[in-house]
Amino acid sequence: MPSIIVAIDGGAGSGKSTTAKGVARELNFFYLDTGAMYRAVTLKYIRCGGSEPLDMKLVQEIIGSTHIDLVAHNDDNRVYLDGRDVTLDIRMPEVNKMVSPISAVREVREWMVNLQRLVARDKNVVCEGRDIGTVVFPHAQVKIFMYADLEVRAQRRVRECAEKEIPATLDEVVENLKFRDNYDSGRKHSPLKKADDAIEVDTTLLSIEEEIALVRKIVLEKMSPTQSPS
Ligand code: DC
Repeated sequence: MPSIIVAIDGGAGSGKSTTAKGVARELNFFYLDTGAMYRAVTLKYIRCGGSEPLDMKLVQEIIGSTHIDLVAHNDDNRVYLDGRDVTLDIRMPEVNKMVSPISAVREVREWMVNLQRLVARDKNVVCEGRDIGTVVFPHAQVKIFMYADLEVRAQRRVRECAEKEIPATLDEVVENLKFRDNYDSGRKHSPLKKADDAIEVDTTLLSIEEEIALVRKIVLEKMSPTQSPS
C-alpha cells in the first residue's frame, strides 16, 4: 500500500509543530520537522564562525561536509549534527536570527529537500515546514496551510521558550516572527506559500486540542477507507 503524506505548511508559530506532532501521534505516523533541519545547517554555519552577509564559500563547504540526522523520539524529533545531539541548541536566538538567510540559499534547499524525501521514504508521515505541499511533497494526499494572528503566535512562542528555558521577550519574538515571515515569503527559491489545493486552517482562536482534532478529522476524511489507519 502506498504511504501517506500529510503536508502542513505555515508561518512561524502558526501552530504547525504542535498540531503536526499531535496528529502524527494519534495516527501513529512519523513526524518530520523540516524547520529543525534548516536550523541544524544554520547552527553549523554559526559554529564555523559564519555571520551576515552570508559567506557563500563557507556555506558550500558545509553542504559538502555536514551530516544531519533526524530521529523519532517520543512524539518529537531529535536532531543530530555530525553525530552530536543539537535538539536544544537549534532553538537558540542566534539560530532564529540566521536561519531565514541560510534557508533561502538554493543549494541548501536542494540538499534539504533530498534529505527530507529520504527520511520520509516508505513511511506514513506528517511533515511540517514552509514548502512541503508546494515543493517537497507536491503529491501529498493531504495539504494543510495554517495561520494565526501575529500576537497570538508570539505569545505561543514565548511560552514554548519558557518551557525549554530559552530566553525570549515578547517584543523580540514579535520582531523575529515578522522578519522570518517576510524573508521566508519573499525569497526566490520555494517561498512560504499556500499550495493551491491546501486546506486553510486559522488557529488564532483554537486550543491545541481543537487544532489537533480538526486536522486529524481533515486527514481521516481525505484518506480513502482502505488507507485509513485503525
Ligand atoms: O519551522 P521553524 O520555525 O523551526 O523553521 C525555521 C526556519 O527554517 C524558517 O524561518 C524558514 C526555514 N524553513 C524553510 O525554509 N523551509 C521549510 N520547509 C522549513 C523551514
